[in-house]
Formats: sequence, structure tokens, C-alpha cells
Amino acid sequence: MSLANKYRPKDFSEVVGQEFVVRVLARALDKKEIPQALLFAGPRGIGKTTLARLFAKGLNCELGPTSKPCNSCKFCMDFNEGKATDIIEIDAASNRGIENVREIQKDARFLPSSRYKVYIIDEAHMLTNEAFNSLLKILEEPPKHVVFILATTEPNKIPATILSRLQKFNLKPHPKHAIIQRLKHVCKLEGIYATEEALSMIAERAEGSMRDALILLEQASIFSDKNVDEFYVSKMLGVVPRERFSNLLEYIVRGDFKGAMQSVEEILGEFSPQEFAGGFVKFLENLLLEKTENLSFEEKTILLRMALDMEFHVRDTFSPRSWITYDIARMCSFKRVVNIDEISSLLGVQKSEEVKKTNVITEDPPIDILRRNFPGLSAYLESSRYEIVNGSLKIYVGDKVIKEKLENGSEILKEVFKVEGVEVILERLENEEMERKIRDIFSQIKRDWEETQP
Ligand SMILES: Nc1ncnc2c1ncn2[C@@H]1O[C@H](COP(=O)(O)OP(=O)(O)OP(=O)(O)O)[C@@H](O)[C@H]1O
Ligand SMILES: [Mg+2]
Ligand SMILES: [Zn+2]
Repeated sequence: MSLANKYRPKDFSEVVGQEFVVRVLARALDKKEIPQALLFAGPRGIGKTTLARLFAKGLNCELGPTSKPCNSCKFCMDFNEGKATDIIEIDAASNRGIENVREIQKDARFLPSSRYKVYIIDEAHMLTNEAFNSLLKILEEPPKHVVFILATTEPNKIPATILSRLQKFNLKPHPKHAIIQRLKHVCKLEGIYATEEALSMIAERAEGSMRDALILLEQASIFSDKNVDEFYVSKMLGVVPRERFSNLLEYIVRGDFKGAMQSVEEILGEFSPQEFAGGFVKFLENLLLEKTENLSFEEKTILLRMALDMEFHVRDTFSPRSWITYDIARMCSFKRVVNIDEISSLLGVQKSEEVKKTNVITEDPPIDILRRNFPGLSAYLESSRYEIVNGSLKIYVGDKVIKEKLENGSEILKEVFKVEGVEVILERLENEEMERKIRDIFSQIKRDWEETQP
């Protein structure tokens, strides 16, 4: 039996999370106020089918209805062996039609051998309109001995007429720490050795689904002979280990392009450009939540933005490696970018009058001058769209932080481009996907932050 099936909770007390739903269901059973039509909604692998079955078990235990079934009566024993005939599970994905619902209608008239006949309709949103209409008739006047439990990953596809007759429960994806804890529990009982980092990678990939996490753990355990470490898991999942990225980041922060590229080459020896770029984004996302000595929050935000660019660049391109080189080069000059005041003072060019005294003004094109003397500022400018209109430099950016940096450097830009004014215009990101991604990251940060609050 797979780990996911083996560790399906046999009892409400074993259910991880979903506290609110568990409490309401347990209370209904204990008070014997039984709702006859329920809906469990939420993403995959989080406990919908599990809770539906547990509710059905509590309904039919000979001591029931109860939230604490006895596990020794005939029904409980049949149930535990998966043989309870009064619990009928229907997969609506493959039984979508009106004839399937008519069958239920016919079958529901017969009395159960235990207390209730419980129909669990999985992926209920797949039913056809006619099937829903037919189901509606049963839900309007269900026989006393029948309970319907609908489960769905897409509740918005269930007609309003049906919804209004169901008691609806929203189940939540599992937070990462809860998945890790459950995996540890399973490892202990199964005699699997697993490192913290390995479990963390698995939990991250499972994206809230307990089933996915258990399946990945099982896979890793089988192939590693119960020795699940991060090196193994990182290969299995195509996830670059954190350590590798920490190493790379050190070079970037030092502005050591050569060292950074060496570190990148090593990573690319084992992982695809996409895995590398996507992983670096995740790494920096996580870093935003941590305290770091050598990087400010703002600096990390800028690096994250550049890494997101890189992730975007390496997708669907013939030359992912060149894009990576380009983006890593940008990142390597970013420290200098951020500390523009610092570099200005190094060059003795804090004020525009002083700029004139330096070697900045030569016959070279402005952008070359900028690249040579202010690599940071030029990186910002070159990642933006800009034009000179009526003697004024207009720069269009999609990021507040970048806007600020360019504005701070506006005196320098004026001198270099020989313009009267510099206008930095914040505009919508040209790329909707990028925008969505950034929004996702910030809502994830917010969620994680909320989780740490008491
Ligand atoms: N809340 C939970 N507590 C403990 N284990 C869970 C929980 N949710 C899911 N699991 C584990 O994941 C497996 C699958 O869960 P379940 O079948 O209930 O998911 P589901 O929400 O119905 O998913 P799907 O939408 O894919 O049908 C279970 O067998 C169990 O091992
Ligand atoms: Mg299910
Ligand atoms: Zn029982």
C-alpha cells in the first residue's frame, strides 16, 4: 500500500490542520444534527475525501452518530477494511451523466444496512447540467437515511442552485511546516532516515498537498534505500541545493563576476538553466524573509527582480546560457548600483559641478561613459526603456525601487547625457506574467508572515 493511503487518517484526531471543518463535523455528529448535503472544496490532496469518509464512518458506527467511532463494531471493521457497502463513492469525472445520477436516485430508495447511506461524489463539478438538475431534485427532498457529500477542486463550477442546498466547507492547503511535521511522523514510523533540508524541499514542491508530499517522500525513500538526504532529493526534484545558491550569492555581493560564473557553471553541470533560474528566484524569495548581514531588504528586492528577469529570459530561448551570463553580470554590478552614493564619493562626484572635474566627459557615447564610470546606474538605465525628448531624458520603469535609484543618480545622468532634465516615469510592467509573479511573491510573504503571528 502506498504511504499516502497507509497514512490516511482513520480518525478525526489524526487529521492534520482543517481544524474548523473537523470541529463543525464532530459537533454535528455528537449533537446528532446531521446535515444531509455537504460540500468539501479546496485544492488537491488536502483531505476532502478523507474527511468525507470519516464523517460517513462517524455516522454509521454502531455507537453513533459519534465523532469518536469505536473501531470494533461490524461497521467500523468493515469500514477500516474499505468494505463498508453503505458508503458509495462516485467519481464524477468518469460518471458525469444524467443516467449516473438516476442510478443514485434509484439506489437511494433502498434502506442501508447500517444507519445512513452516504454518497461521496468526487470531482462533483464535472457533472453535466442535466445531471446537476437531476441531483437537485434529490437534494430538495432527500430520503431521511441518505447523506450526500460532494467534493470538488473547483467549487465555482457548481451551479448556484446546488450550492444553496449544500453546507459548504472550504479546506485549506497545508502550510509547509505542517507538511514537514507530518512527514517526520511518517518517517519515524516507517524507519526512514530523512534530513530536515530534504523534507523541506519535498514540502516546498508539494505546494500544500499532503498527498503529493507523501508520494514524493515514498519515491525518494525507495530510490535512496530509506536514506533521504538533500543531495538525493535535489536531484530527484531538480532543485538546486540552497548551499550552492548561498555560494553564488556571495560572489554576486562581492561583485566577483568570474567567481559567480564559475559557480553558475558548476550548477549548470547538474541542473537545467530553467531549474537554475527558477531555483534562484525561490532562494531569493526565501531570503527576503530572513535577516541578512550583508544585504538590506531593498537590495534583496532588487536582486529578486533581476532573478525574475533571468527566469523569464531563459524560458523558451535558444540561448539560455547567454541570458544567464548577461543577467549574472547585471547582478554582479548591482551592489555598486545600490550604493551609488558610495561610488560617487569614491570618484569624488557627489555634486554635478564636481562631475565636470572628473574624467566622465569625453568623446565617447554617453552610455559608454556611464557603463565605465557608473556601472550600477547604467545597469538600471539599460534594463529600462529611455529616450531623449526636447533635451530631457525620459526613462520608463516598472519598479519603484529602480525609479528611486535612477532619480538619485539624475545629476549624473544629466551630465553624462548633456540634458536639461531627467524624468523617471513609473509605468505598468510591460509583462503581465512578471507582474503576477511579483504579486504572488508578496502575498506569499504576507501569508508566511501571518503564520508566524500568534
Ligand atoms: N488533513 C490531512 N491530514 C492528514 N493526512 C492528509 C490530510 N489531507 C490529506 N492527507 C493525506 O493525503 C492523502 C490524500 O488525501 P485526500 O484523498 O483526502 O485528498 P483530497 O483532498 O480528496 O484530494 P483530491 O482533490 O486529489 O481528491 C491521504 O490519504 C492522506 O495520506
Ligand atoms: Mg479526493
Ligand atoms: Zn463502531
